[in-house]
Amino acid sequence: MADVFVGYRSEFQDGSRKLVTNDRLEIGVFCVKDEFYAFLNSCPHQGGPVCQGRIMPRVEEHLSAEQKSIRMSFSEDEFHLVCPWHGYEFRFATGKHPGSDAYGLRRFETRVEEDKVYVRV
Ligand code: FES
Repeated sequence: MADVFVGYRSEFQDGSRKLVTNDRLEIGVFCVKDEFYAFLNSCPHQGGPVCQGRIMPRVEEHLSAEQKSIRMSFSEDEFHLVCPWHGYEFRFATGKHPGSDAYGLRRFETRVEEDKVYVRV
């Protein structure tokens, strides 16, 4: 394991990302809501460049007491990464597909130390 320098914390704005390469791996490092996340830039569906996808808030469905859909809204707390090839979504917090834990991104640990952001590879 090695810590790879990604950049300075001050370079990252909320919702920004940076792709870094180490040996044969391309890793996307994201800053979302003041947290850092890192994933392999390969979608588990068909290998698409998932780390180049959109960052979207989770869509929440509100139900009545009878369990009928009332309305939809965007979450203010949970964000997903959307693969640009076929639209599979992955939770930033876990790297997992919201509909199935069987689909997940390969995650990497991140660390911020004295304004420097690192990813452990
Ligand atoms: S390759 Fe990512 S959704 Fe198909």
